[in-house]
Amino acid sequence: MVAHAPASKKLFNVTLRVWRQPDAKSPGQFVDYPAKDVNPDMSFLELLDVVNDTLTRQGEDPIAFAHDCREGICGTCSCTINGKPHGPGRGIATCQTYMRSFQEGDVIVVEPFRAHSFPVQKDLITDRSAFDKIQQAGGFISVRTGAAPDANSIPVPKEDADLAMDAAQCIQCGACVAACKNASAMLFVAAKVSQFSLLPQGQPERERRVLNMVSTMDALGFGNCTNQYECSAVCPKLISHDFIARLNREYVRALVKTKFKPVSNAAGGGAG
Ligand code: SF4
Ligand code: FES
Repeated sequence: MVAHAPASKKLFNVTLRVWRQPDAKSPGQFVDYPAKDVNPDMSFLELLDVVNDTLTRQGEDPIAFAHDCREGICGTCSCTINGKPHGPGRGIATCQTYMRSFQEGDVIVVEPFRAHSFPVQKDLITDRSAFDKIQQAGGFISVRTGAAPDANSIPVPKEDADLAMDAAQCIQCGACVAACKNASAMLFVAAKVSQFSLLPQGQPERERRVLNMVSTMDALGFGNCTNQYECSAVCPKLISHDFIARLNREYVRALVKTKFKPVSNAAGGGAG
């Protein structure tokens, strides 16, 4: 392993205990990989890169892990480090975790997000397309595209705009599900529903959106919320569990507005 560090940086050694699983159908197991002369300013994913470089040169299968932006935006770098989705930091994703969070001699346990609805595909990679299905069920607005309207033509109260922006920060990473003992997706769905229901543009499909997203969430096997709030504790965007209360209110409101009539699960524009 090559570790470039100024003389003042104290390099250290750790052991990565990584979940290795060749494919979705095969059993997995933890395998230890010693990592020597670790630079504290390396990101956690950079350390995985270095370990993979060594494995590749040795002719071994590198550790499969998902990543893209490496700056906390895309939500793909989802793994559990020492039992906590996204690792020891607060309000950051796995890719924003730095090795200075660890110490000499640490054994760092790395595994994929564990949830029934997120099956492991290989090593640290899970299939989180269930979130895409929930989004497709209602996480959109239908508007005619064209020239951008004047920003002031639809007034939005500042409080609502701020709350909608808070909700819109969700990066669809799935940590909330992985942290929850019920594997509930309520924080994710709450963020997506709130993002739209707070804004004028989200009103035409408001009832159908929440009913469809919740029913899709249930159908895909996610559990119920029992108010443990592990979800918001691990959320890299610090989405508040207050949004779950807002989701529940939105859901009841939609049931009343639709007079308990079943709604179509068909996605698409226009009010149901
Ligand atoms: S609510 Fe937070 S933890 Fe859950 S998917 Fe969104 S960003 Fe990730
Ligand atoms: S790699 Fe994009 S959020 Fe971590």
